[in-house]
Amino acid sequence: MTAPLAAGRDADVFALDDHRVLRRYRNPQDTAPEAAAMAHAAEHGFPVPGVYRAEGGELEMERLYGPTMLDACLDGRMTPEGAARTLAELHERLHALPPRSGEGRLLHMDLHPGNVVLAPQGPVVIDWTNARDGDPDLDLAVTALLLALIGQSGPPPLAALAGACLPHYVGHVTGDPARLVDEVVALRGADPNLGAGELSLLPRAADLVRRAVDARAKDARA
Ligand SMILES: Nc1ncnc2c1ncn2[C@@H]1O[C@H](COP(=O)(O)OP(=O)(O)O)[C@@H](O)[C@H]1O
Ligand SMILES: [Mg+2]
Repeated sequence: MTAPLAAGRDADVFALDDHRVLRRYRNPQDTAPEAAAMAHAAEHGFPVPGVYRAEGGELEMERLYGPTMLDACLDGRMTPEGAARTLAELHERLHALPPRSGEGRLLHMDLHPGNVVLAPQGPVVIDWTNARDGDPDLDLAVTALLLALIGQSGPPPLAALAGACLPHYVGHVTGDPARLVDEVVALRGADPNLGAGELSLLPRAADLVRRAVDARAKDARA
């Protein structure tokens, strides 16, 4: 097979032809749950790549063209506020879909600017590995915590972007990104792949999220 289009921590993404890519886990992991989440989203008009095949660790899907929102921010085509607004809108839309079960709404659980492709048809959400059902505030807490973490410890251009994105994201969502942030800290803290570095940053990142939500409340009262 040709060189991957992208190589992430857990999976490689290969172009199969002009219309299809293959996302393949390097370690045994079943793609059926993420394919099911993507199918539910697609069925209700939420922008995801179409899934052609999900078997074991392999997911064959529609090939998207366009930069990720992260790339667009880094090269100045998109502002951190624009990215924050798009993330907030995508979350609002996702959480408004009909539930799949009695266990809350479909959550993406990893929505950040690197997981949104600015395709010609509009923003499309990729990387549904962590998708599950639950309380929408949990999804908001994940995004806010990721922005806070990168804002405090990412390489300089990323840190500046994420730091600028966080208050706008919190300002645009209608739910509460701080309410369940400690639950997200516990979930991330239990990840065996997490280095000691990130582990020690989690409490301060959670505080940044709480402060951003407090600032939003103050702005609303002013
Ligand atoms: N459907 C797709 N079409 C085109 N490129 C894709 C597609 N899905 C993923 N990619 C590419 O692969 C990269 C990583 O994909 P992603 O699913 O976010 O995996 P991870 O973050 O785990 O490495 C993306 O940033 C994008 O460049
Ligand atoms: Mg990703």
